[in-house]
Amino acid sequence: MRYKPSVPGSLLIRLVLLSVAAASTNLWAAEAPKVVTKDGRHALMVDGAPFLVLGAQINNSSSWPSTLPAVWPALEDMHANTVEAPVYWEQMEPSPGKFDFSTVDLLVQQSRQHHMHLVVLWFGTWKNGNMHYVPQWVKADTKKYPRVINQAGEPIDVLSANSRNNLEADKHAFTALMHHLAEVDSNEHTVIFVQVENESGIVGSPRDYSKDSNREFEGKVPADLLRAAQKPAGTWREVFGGDADETFQAYHQSRYINEIAEAGKHEFNIPLYCNVWLSYPIAELPERQVGNPGIGWPSGGPVQHSLWLWKAFTPAIDVIAPDIYSDDLGFYTSILKTYARPDNALFVPETGNGDPYARFLFLALNDGTIGFSPFGVDHTGWTFADGTGPKLHTENYALLEPISREIARSNFEGKLKAAAESPGQAEQELDFGKWKASVRFGFPQRDGRRPPGTSDNTGRALVAQLSEDEFLVTGIDASVAFHVEGRLPGIRMQILSAEEGTYENGVWKASRLWNGDQTDRGLNFHKHNKVAVKIHIGTF
Ligand code: DGJ
Repeated sequence: MRYKPSVPGSLLIRLVLLSVAAASTNLWAAEAPKVVTKDGRHALMVDGAPFLVLGAQINNSSSWPSTLPAVWPALEDMHANTVEAPVYWEQMEPSPGKFDFSTVDLLVQQSRQHHMHLVVLWFGTWKNGNMHYVPQWVKADTKKYPRVINQAGEPIDVLSANSRNNLEADKHAFTALMHHLAEVDSNEHTVIFVQVENESGIVGSPRDYSKDSNREFEGKVPADLLRAAQKPAGTWREVFGGDADETFQAYHQSRYINEIAEAGKHEFNIPLYCNVWLSYPIAELPERQVGNPGIGWPSGGPVQHSLWLWKAFTPAIDVIAPDIYSDDLGFYTSILKTYARPDNALFVPETGNGDPYARFLFLALNDGTIGFSPFGVDHTGWTFADGTGPKLHTENYALLEPISREIARSNFEGKLKAAAESPGQAEQELDFGKWKASVRFGFPQRDGRRPPGTSDNTGRALVAQLSEDEFLVTGIDASVAFHVEGRLPGIRMQILSAEEGTYENGVWKASRLWNGDQTDRGLNFHKHNKVAVKIHIGTF
């Protein structure tokens, strides 16, 4: 069922006139955001050019008139360019078919006032593998809106993805939301992404064990899933063995969400994504040493091992995006590499707001990310009080925000490389073919000695190739020196100019030249000089 606003007859003529006016205004409207892919790389296009989401996600209960005043100062202090904020189904549709868009309107208006883009998070059927944000009229009517039945035959706190009524109810609300966004944001495009559901899946059961679902599970695996899995025909258990229950759930859940997304896109064609509660490395507790869908992670969601299925069954979803809450370097890197695929743009919509997570922005950029967003950034007191906030994430955003458009463009063109310090790796090399950029972390860097690294492994640097011999360079606690293959910096090469500056409306504005101590031992980016340098080099 598509969302159809009921239009009283008397309003009809005014609406027709308004839409004619809107159509002419649209001639000057900003281009709708979209995710584009070229040669296996991706960009989130905003106003017609690649955009890097330097995001901040607010706390779950912060999208309210009473709490939004505590949101904006936090995001502004952080230099974020995008707010990620939830819209709650329970608030938006307090009784069936009666919509209250006040929260959505407030978010859109206030984002504009604060010059930020907005990512709308739809807290619908699923929120963290439960159903806590569905309206009371859904919670109350368990017959019409059935719950997942667990293996013990008990209903649990999750709506079943095997119910048409559940799907239709969510779809009706989500299309209403997208229809409303089209009405209020088709010209300005403040909203650049909509997240469909939040960390979908079942906490508490691998799948729905209702009578109907069990009957279906005893039958044959559908042909479209066999094709996607490249498996021969059989029952669910025969085809998927021990993974059959989770695969059954993932199949139904991904199609459920895709149907909702497709209907929403029909109302307003802007990028949609699903975020993921990941499967984390096995915990030390003996009872958790078995990968366990429904316990270790919400069953049916787009976790690492189900990404293949989700990509096959969610064509209306532009991006599957991992929420990364482990600061283990190996795990973080493996997740970035898993979700950065030629058919899936990397986007990290949630990550830890603590200092150890800040350097991962640079690793994500190195894997082509279109955005990054620490979670829980507002001054409501849940995580941060007034005047406080993430420290190193703020350093990152202060450094990158002024040059974020150039970063996004270079990344889309495959010309961006970034480095983050890790224990024992205070020296790294970025390869640009003819030119190599040697990155050394920590100061002081004594002649002839290895760089000391930083005490907390937080050095980071970024190099974007602007033309064959021109680079935009920045970093924190890092030096960057260019050289040609097999020769030290300064040998048979020279710096023609090194300009400190920034971009204003896409145009480079130099403020001074670096030379002497500022260039002789590489371009040095100390903690306190958050600047970018455009360097022009040549050989002789
Ligand atoms: C991940 C969820 O997606 C967020 O909404 C929030 O609950 C965080 N976890 C809390 O850490």
